[in-house]
Amino acid sequence: MATALVTGAGRGIGRAIARRLAADGFAVVALDVDAASAEKTAGEIGGRAVTCDVTDPAAVGDLAASLEELQVLVNNAGIFPFARLADIAPEEFRRVMDVNVLGPLLLIQRLLPLLSASGGSVVNIASMAAKAATPGTGAYSPSKAALVSLTQLCALEFAHSGVRFNAVAPGGVRTEGTAQVSADPEREARFNSLVPLGRRAVPEDIADVVSFFASEDSRYITGQVLYVDGGLTAATIPFLQAAQRTT
Ligand SMILES: NC(=O)c1ccc[n+]([C@@H]2O[C@H](COP(=O)([O-])OP(=O)(O)OC[C@H]3O[C@@H](n4cnc5c(N)ncnc54)[C@H](O)[C@@H]3O)[C@@H](O)[C@H]2O)c1
Repeated sequence: MATALVTGAGRGIGRAIARRLAADGFAVVALDVDAASAEKTAGEIGGRAVTCDVTDPAAVGDLAASLEELQVLVNNAGIFPFARLADIAPEEFRRVMDVNVLGPLLLIQRLLPLLSASGGSVVNIASMAAKAATPGTGAYSPSKAALVSLTQLCALEFAHSGVRFNAVAPGGVRTEGTAQVSADPEREARFNSLVPLGRRAVPEDIADVVSFFASEDSRYITGQVLYVDGGLTAATIPFLQAAQRTT
């Protein structure tokens, strides 16, 4: 049975990806910094739970040493604390870059031999914020732009490994991590009305696309970023119209 490792699998998008890849027939390793949630996801899908902070090189090394084979790595773990650039603390900026960019690189570095042996696939979960810089989200937009760049660079620098590297970039997705954002019904209705496909995503909308990048159907695709955003990044005109509306 082929193995897939999903980071941040304890909840939200990561849990949906773990479920989908298990349904696709993968033996799933559900990794999370939160032990209880990793166990819960793994228990649900008959997978293996791993407690690990993706920014800890020693822990990532231990994890890599515990695996015998790997076909798919999904770098999904990410953080998005709200902050203003004017006064964001250096430690907070660094932490976001560490989790969202350095963590994926550490996993790729340590797991490349296994992924190469299987001709595997890496899927990095970026964000539409990589393309549409989002005020008020501190280091988040720069971190996701860096993750897209890292994906492209890996596709080139590790091309000889036979591993494919792609990014899936969600728009707005309803998860535990964004529960507060969609809590106000009026604000949520306004958001939904601005999405060309008319609604915020659910985690499964993202997981289904990850499944494609994990599969042989995407065998000739590498170095790409696919925006799974209901059309949001294409929606400049509706946004400008909404912004200019006076009533
Ligand atoms: N929800 C959205 O609207 C949205 C939009 C675009 C992109 N994304 C991206 O999708 C990914 C998942 O988002 P979500 O909304 O499901 O988040 P979430 O906060 O609901 O879940 C994230 C999971 O990652 C884990 N995690 C955090 N830091 C970790 C670390 N250092 N090591 C290991 N695990 C860690 C958390 O414990 C949690 O289980 C993130 O990379 C996020 O940036 C989300």
